[in-house]
Amino acid sequence: MIGIIGAMHAETEGLVALMRDKTERVISGMTFVSGKIGKQDAVVATCGIGKVYAAMCAQTMILTWHPEYVINSGVAGGLAPGLSIADIIIATALVQHDMDISPLGDPIGWVSGADRIRFETDGDLREKLLAIAKDQNVPARPGVIASGDQFVADPARKQEIVKMFDASACEMEGGAIAQVCFSNNVPFAVLRAISDGDGGASDYNAFLHLAAARTVSLLTALLS
Ligand code: ADE
Repeated sequence: MIGIIGAMHAETEGLVALMRDKTERVISGMTFVSGKIGKQDAVVATCGIGKVYAAMCAQTMILTWHPEYVINSGVAGGLAPGLSIADIIIATALVQHDMDISPLGDPIGWVSGADRIRFETDGDLREKLLAIAKDQNVPARPGVIASGDQFVADPARKQEIVKMFDASACEMEGGAIAQVCFSNNVPFAVLRAISDGDGGASDYNAFLHLAAARTVSLLTALLS
């Protein structure tokens, strides 16, 4: 069983449409659809926006479906230079840019208990996703993805996040899913297509569906 989590319907609907022998289950207001995609048994969940929903979803998925690995897929804001709309970032590691206990002496992003800033993704999954992108002629690169409960549109905030974490993209769920997977010893990957750059919210509104469709074609190939 492979677990896939997207925050919004726009990020999961393409995969759910491809699924056969579907069973739908709603837990804590989140819809989990299980069935077959290609040759794989998969469960696809739409968790809602932000780190709390993402963590709830990942924990529920792990305890209920026991996935071999979890993939978080969706869209992100671009931070690295040279990124275009719909380019793909395959996360090397996830950080939480809004985790801040620095008055207590720890660096920004430090997750106490896990005792780290960076949650590393699974190397094999990362390599497979990069190879599929290459095959499909889709521009993709590895990079750090920074998560937080903020839609990041302010150029100064983007600069801060880049400076602190050398991040390539920002979104609102991957870091929470990474932390839950880490706590449960479940390998994970995060795959994000850029929906917005300097154009912020207007880019996002224009390109959300285009970017989300890119991630679906990569995941379809991974599961085939
Ligand atoms: N998801 C897509 N674009 C984003 C942004 N700019 N900030 C946070 N999450 C996002």
